[in-house]
Amino acid sequence: MSWRRSCATALACEAAGEQFAELLVSGDVVLLSGQLGAGKTTFTKGVARGLGVKERVTSPTFTMVHEHRCHHASGIVTLHHADVYRVTSLAEVLDLAIGELVEESGVALVEWGELAASVFGRDVMTVRFEVDDDEVRTLEVSGALTIARGEAFDDWTGA
Ligand SMILES: Nc1ncnc2c1ncn2[C@@H]1O[C@H](COP(=O)(O)OP(=O)(O)OP(=O)(O)O)[C@@H](O)[C@H]1O
Ligand SMILES: [Mg+2]
Repeated sequence: MSWRRSCATALACEAAGEQFAELLVSGDVVLLSGQLGAGKTTFTKGVARGLGVKERVTSPTFTMVHEHRCHHASGIVTLHHADVYRVTSLAEVLDLAIGELVEESGVALVEWGELAASVFGRDVMTVRFEVDDDEVRTLEVSGALTIARGEAFDDWTGA
C-alpha cells in the first residue's frame, strides 16, 4: 500500500510536509529518498513547521544530523534531521544511532536513508520523491509504519 501526492511547487512540497507532521508519532523514522534537488530538505522544512520548530531548518549534508526542538501537542519533543548522502560505510550510519535517538520522544527524517535502511533496526516509512519536471514532484509514502495509519494517509493524499 502506498499514498501519492503531487506537489506543483516548492511551497506545495512544504505544505505536504507540514500536513505530514500531523501523522507522525514519537519514535517514527522516516526515510526520504530521491535524487539531488528532489525536495527532501524542502519537505523537511514543512515537517519542522508542522511540529512547531522555531529555528531555521537547513540541510545537514555536512554535519549529518541536526536536532530541532519541537513544540507540538503530539508530545514529539525532538526532530532529528539527518542526511546520509556523504557516509561511506553503514557503520557510520550505525554510529548515528537514529533508532535510539527517536526513543526519547523524537522522530527522525533521514535524507538518502534508503541507502542505509538495513541499519535502523526498526520499522520505518519511506517518502520517495520523483521529479516529474523542473517544478512538479510526486511524493509516494509507503512502509510498515504506515499500515495502521491508512485513513490519515488517505486524508493527506487528498489534502
Ligand atoms: N515541487 C517542488 N517541490 C520541492 N522542491 C521544488 C519544487 N519545485 C522546485 N523546487 C526546488 O527544488 C529544490 C529542492 O531542493 P532540496 O534541497 O529540497 O532537495 P533535496 O532533495 O534535499 O536535495 P539533496 O539531495 O541535495 O539534499 C529547491 O531549490 C526547491 O525550491
Ligand atoms: Mg537535502
